[in-house]
Amino acid sequence: MAPLTTPSPPWALLAEVTHACPLQCPYCSNPLDLVRRSAELGTGDWRRVMREAGELGVVQAHISGGEPLLRGDLEDIIAAAEDAEIYTQLVTSGLGLPPARLDRLVAAGLRSVQLSVQDAAAPNSDLIAGRGGSFAAKEEAATVVTAAGLPLGLNVVLHRHNIDHIDEIIRLGVAWGAERIELANVQFYGWAMRNRTALLPGRDRLARAQKVVDDRRAELADAVEIIWVVPDYYEGIPKPCMGGWGSRSLTVGPDGTALPCPAAYAIEGLDPPNVKERSLAWIWERSSAFAAYRGTSWMPEPCRSCPERERDFGGCRCQAFALTGDAGRTDPACRLSPDHHLVEAAVSADEEIPALVYRRPGRRRS
Ligand code: SF4
Ligand code: FES
Repeated sequence: MAPLTTPSPPWALLAEVTHACPLQCPYCSNPLDLVRRSAELGTGDWRRVMREAGELGVVQAHISGGEPLLRGDLEDIIAAAEDAEIYTQLVTSGLGLPPARLDRLVAAGLRSVQLSVQDAAAPNSDLIAGRGGSFAAKEEAATVVTAAGLPLGLNVVLHRHNIDHIDEIIRLGVAWGAERIELANVQFYGWAMRNRTALLPGRDRLARAQKVVDDRRAELADAVEIIWVVPDYYEGIPKPCMGGWGSRSLTVGPDGTALPCPAAYAIEGLDPPNVKERSLAWIWERSSAFAAYRGTSWMPEPCRSCPERERDFGGCRCQAFALTGDAGRTDPACRLSPDHHLVEAAVSADEEIPALVYRRPGRRRS
């Protein structure tokens, strides 16, 4: 049934232009079944998506993947966003960004770059990324970006295998000229859920890392923005995921699947629309997938009568689905959730730490 009221426009678009990637990070939030390159949207489709996004009210696009630099038409996609008056940020591993390519992207309208790095030094960064030489390529990319005068952000997913190096990671970001360092405690979707036991850092490591972050924030003051993405498994407080489902942003996947969140591929029964069949305006305003958990009226107890419901929107739908099989339940990360024991069991389990399972390029969906 069509929603009765028109939602406020989204301000951000996450354009996942490909799932292909030269790295194999075991915490990747891409779905376990990756979209094949042959099923990706064409240049014309992305041009239309950007035009429709601008008309809908989107002001910022994160061009992501996989590795977006693998798209030979990335310049065209960014130019289409620029024509639609949308600010673009490239979210990249940094592999494949020589100065000439960055020059072309900047000429097309690219405004900023977010670079991922897996650790503060090459041996472990390359090990986590599953690719030798990747740290050196990232370092080179950081130089290329700052030399071009573009704002550089560093994104580091934190987990058991790098969280003890957090001080060195922050120092690395400062040395590379990052204006913003995002320390993203791993969130358990996609490949990260597959590797959950191997990635959970433990309370002691987290507490030490939090102390380092507090100290370094005080020291660096306004020189560098340090973002600490809350480790909700340990805090008992759910995150306001995506700023609320279908509230602020939308994702368009490599094959045109449109989702309120990049991890929502996994939610069964959602019936996501596709930009090949529907306009972005229809998808945002009228699709059942975007309306499903928008606002607060869908909420069960204890969210329904909770004073926090307008702040955290009942937490994360993808996490509720991953842990309970029902995206409409209270996020089990919340200590008030009847399913919170599932999270408590995971963080207190005294299991042998298994080897990491790397994202496998061979596993793709059509
Ligand atoms: Fe948030 Fe629901 Fe938990 Fe209240 S009960 S804090 S609204 S997730
Ligand atoms: Fe999808 Fe939280 S990751 S709603």
